[in-house]
Amino acid sequence: MSIEISGESLTKDLTRASFVPEDEGEFSLRPQTLKEYIGQKKAKENLQVYIQAARQRGEALDHVLLHGPPGLGKTTLAQIIANEMGVNIRKTSGPAIEKPRDLAALLTNLNDNDILFVDEIHRLNRSVEEILYPAMEDGEIDIIIGQGPSADSIRLPLKKFTLIGATTRSGQISAPLRDRFGIILKLELYSPEELELIIHRSADLLHIGIEPQGAAEIAKRCRGTPRIANRLLKRVRDFAEVTADGVITKSVADDALTRLDIDHLGLDNIDRRLLSSIIMQYGGGPVGLETLAATINEETVTIEDVYEPYLLQQGFLTRTPRGRCATRQAYEHLHIPLPMENSGNPAQMKMDF
Ligand code: ADE
Repeated sequence: MSIEISGESLTKDLTRASFVPEDEGEFSLRPQTLKEYIGQKKAKENLQVYIQAARQRGEALDHVLLHGPPGLGKTTLAQIIANEMGVNIRKTSGPAIEKPRDLAALLTNLNDNDILFVDEIHRLNRSVEEILYPAMEDGEIDIIIGQGPSADSIRLPLKKFTLIGATTRSGQISAPLRDRFGIILKLELYSPEELELIIHRSADLLHIGIEPQGAAEIAKRCRGTPRIANRLLKRVRDFAEVTADGVITKSVADDALTRLDIDHLGLDNIDRRLLSSIIMQYGGGPVGLETLAATINEETVTIEDVYEPYLLQQGFLTRTPRGRCATRQAYEHLHIPLPMENSGNPAQMKMDF
């Protein structure tokens, strides 16, 4: 990760929920059991029941689809399910499975009740996906032997297994695939209270001194996302060690996060640019996603997966059939006068972002 204090590249990586190599150290922070896992109350309670029931019957857990914004713990939850079931887990991702035979090799190597975890499952290609249907439904796969007119297909029975699919884009999963998951769990952005608990837990594991108000400050500014909370915690610790006495207080956290251009509600430069662009260039919206993406020079999927969930949850943005609109809160947060409150002269609304 390039470190450029106050520069956009640093902020962008820090507040981006997608996994970056520096999060590797986060593995030690990941909870291993449902009991240790904070938040996602509904998903957790239901999972507890399904796991116990499957264990009592000595069966594999039904196939599980986990969906929600990045950084909320889908991979962590898959590992926890494996731990709680007492089975092995094999982890891969949609784009990594290029050919039907790659998937066939993965499936035929699983043992009874094992878990196959497929991250970004919406990115599986069609021919690979078609192998999954009979595998999930009937526990067998069709394998083509030979080529041309003499090619033949044989059915191969598989051991009982659980497929855990994870996706940030449940809307892009085909209906036949979606229908084959018995358990569908949606992960939600975390509340500040849950994030405070996660930050305290991580601080303990990393031996970082932190005051409750320091944790609350980070919790408020990490976009409802544990992965970002843990990343910010490590950066704030750097400031605490170099500019203070090593303990993260509210004022150390506030100072560090402000230096990183993360405002008091957790918005970064790109969030602010996105909202100000809707307001300044498109009169507050509606503006289509593609147009908006081109205007702020970001990819549409990044806007949809990374930026929008938090802006929608915070009430800064609405999605309408005609496009994205900035809300009154967005104008207020950016200190831009609401349209009826200014003279209507666009020059007066010009701001420098
Ligand atoms: N670290 C990251 N996510 C967590 C969670 N949900 N619970 C506990 N620790 C975490």
